[in-house]
Amino acid sequence: MVYRAICYGLIGFGSLCFVIVLYDQLYGSPVRTRIEGLVEAVKFWEKTDEIEEAEDSNSTLSEIQQVIDLQRSTIYEEMIDYQFPNGGYSIYCSKLEDLVMESDGNPMRSIIVTTWRSGSNFLGRILAAHPGVFYHFEPLSDFDVVQIRGPPLAGPAMTNLRAVMNCEYANAGHHIEWVKTHPWIFQVNPPLGTQCQAHESICYNRRFLSEMCKLFPFQLVKLIRLRLHIVQELLADKKLAVRLLLLVRDPRGTLQSRKHTPFCQRGRDCVDAGLLCADLVSDYNAAVELQNKYPSTFRVLRYEDLCAEPYKQVEELFQFYGLNFHPNVKKFLDTHTKTDTGNEFSSYRNSKTAPFHWRQDLDFEEVEEIQHHCLVAMKHWGYVPALNVSHQREFNPVTDYTI
Ligand SMILES: *[C@@H]1O[C@H](CO)[C@@H](O)[C@H](O)[C@H]1NC(C)=O
Ligand SMILES: *[C@@H]1O[C@H](CO)[C@@H](O)[C@H](O)[C@H]1NC(C)=O
Repeated sequence: MVYRAICYGLIGFGSLCFVIVLYDQLYGSPVRTRIEGLVEAVKFWEKTDEIEEAEDSNSTLSEIQQVIDLQRSTIYEEMIDYQFPNGGYSIYCSKLEDLVMESDGNPMRSIIVTTWRSGSNFLGRILAAHPGVFYHFEPLSDFDVVQIRGPPLAGPAMTNLRAVMNCEYANAGHHIEWVKTHPWIFQVNPPLGTQCQAHESICYNRRFLSEMCKLFPFQLVKLIRLRLHIVQELLADKKLAVRLLLLVRDPRGTLQSRKHTPFCQRGRDCVDAGLLCADLVSDYNAAVELQNKYPSTFRVLRYEDLCAEPYKQVEELFQFYGLNFHPNVKKFLDTHTKTDTGNEFSSYRNSKTAPFHWRQDLDFEEVEEIQHHCLVAMKHWGYVPALNVSHQREFNPVTDYTI
């Protein structure tokens, strides 16, 4: 009897300790926000399939048909003088139909992998200036302010990504609901933005989105929530034939920009220097491997290098993609790289100074704190530490790197 009481006592005490440890793990402050972020994100993708779409009425169907027919002929006209690779860049296509999913072709697919506030709005807009591009601007945005580094979110994220790359919107209900309250996600895709403005009633229709997407010979996806070591499996998929670009930025510039980004404050993944720089190291290790394994379909670009020589870098990038440098792209660069206007999200900037605002904006104490977490990441990617405040204000923070 006494033994039994002691035994229950011990079990009780053990359980109490367990609960305390668990409580601390779950609700101790940094871990707590992290878990809350994950739980929210898991809820998001679980809901994805529940959103049913009403059956399309005949008038909806005929409106979709009209818009699609018009878009098809617009693309055809825009692409009339296009130089198809014809075997160049290992891309075997000689006419538009070869690249159009609607006619059973296989489009040129490209993915930009990066993180919040690393220059990808600028780069995405440059590439999307090409009239044959359908720009999937962060198809994982409905996961909210969460960085995906493995299970449980990596699986559903990859499923969604593969669907997007095949223009399958049938299960994209949750993402589409998200876009309704974040409409710029469609607006930064120029042809989609234009059609959505003129035909609001079909803009969020899944059939419309799939058919529209399938007209475009170049599919561009930008990802800021999924790390390279997860996305890389797409490079092995011969049918998708993806070209993958990792866009990297100095963590001091990224974090300075995030300070002015209100949504960032909702997630630790967006404000914590240690997490950002652990991701930069993880991306570096993955990049070293991929550069060897897929030299013609994987590439790295630093935002600072893009800004220093936008014409040269973009031209090289178009060669990498197997895309012709379209006059619209040159026009975009001419008008968007020379003056600073607009807000934080604007892609108009003086590209010579844009990457380096942090040198004036951040206190040396803030820079020191970031550098404390980021020395390895900065060494890998060729970013020089600032030594004191006067050094910080005028030094060149960018040097060479090798992968
Ligand atoms: C829609 O069109 C189909 C085929 O033309 C027709 O059978 C059906 O009655 C139409 N439905 C409505 C609601 O007009
Ligand atoms: C800051 O660092 C630079 C470079 O090491 C050095 O030359 C300079 O004297 C330092 N300035 C101050 C105020 O410590």
